Amino acid sequence: MVPELEKATVHMKNPEHVKRVISALRKEGTDKLQVISDFDMTLSRFGFNGRRCPTSHNILDNSRVISEEGRKKLKDLLHYYYPIEIDPNRTMEEKCPLMVEWWTKAHDLLLQQKILKSDIAKIVRDSEVMLRDGVNAFFDQLHQHDIPLFIFSAGVGDVLEEVLRQAEVLHPNVTVVSNYMDFDDQGVLRQFKAPLIHTYNKNNRVLGKTEQFQQLSSRTNIVLLGDSMGDLSMADGVTDAENVLTVGFLNDKVDERRGKYRDAYDIVLEKDETLDVVNGILCYVLGDLN
Ligand code: TMP
Ligand code: MG
Repeated sequence: MVPELEKATVHMKNPEHVKRVISALRKEGTDKLQVISDFDMTLSRFGFNGRRCPTSHNILDNSRVISEEGRKKLKDLLHYYYPIEIDPNRTMEEKCPLMVEWWTKAHDLLLQQKILKSDIAKIVRDSEVMLRDGVNAFFDQLHQHDIPLFIFSAGVGDVLEEVLRQAEVLHPNVTVVSNYMDFDDQGVLRQFKAPLIHTYNKNNRVLGKTEQFQQLSSRTNIVLLGDSMGDLSMADGVTDAENVLTVGFLNDKVDERRGKYRDAYDIVLEKDETLDVVNGILCYVLGDLN
């Protein structure tokens, strides 16, 4: 059915369930289907040649527009809070207030740097960001079949949109909900727009009764892509969800987190820097193969 599911990186607790959902997604056709995806470390790469790739926040942090002191403070925050973010032994309830703390402190530091809207494109161009292998086929396929792609990100919206624009994949079927910057009349960053989205509040409550929420809730067959346990709630707003296939990228602390990921995600991809499996599933579901 989907040869890519034989890849060594693929782990499924219940392969029969996965097959049933994929068959149902194909049978029900494109009208009811949507893809809901995280951005950082899901559509973007986690690492390359043994080095970590930047998140949308890191793209700003590592850029020349940030002072040395600011960069050091942002790095200190990352080193303190990231292990908490991925700690399998803490509950989401425990992590939530700490994530709000991290995002608030990081955004406050970025606000001190007088970042210009007009600098974003260059900051992204000069960065080491990398998207996963197969990202063009992924975006193009969804665009061709008019399948909405809803990117729900706790990263920085302006930055990740620019990454997608420069990769020439920001097609009209893509909607992004993320932390967007608010610039003053001179084009200087003055605040981040509300609501604050962090790793563990990606759900319908944070979306409220917005147009994006309406869009999200109208398609009941879902392929959900994430790399964090917090990403699993991205489809909560779809109350009448029928067939949901969740795919989780397990990038870091693989041995410690394997059990929880296999229990929570239908398909777990361990240390897989490609979108091959997702593209294989979409090919089959959209009828591009066979
Ligand atoms: P997401 O991938 O769930 O949307 O979350 C964004 C990622 O950004 C999350 O894994 C933590 C990371 N992050 C940074 O790298 N630097 C920061 O300053 C903040 C607040 C988050
Ligand atoms: Mg992520």
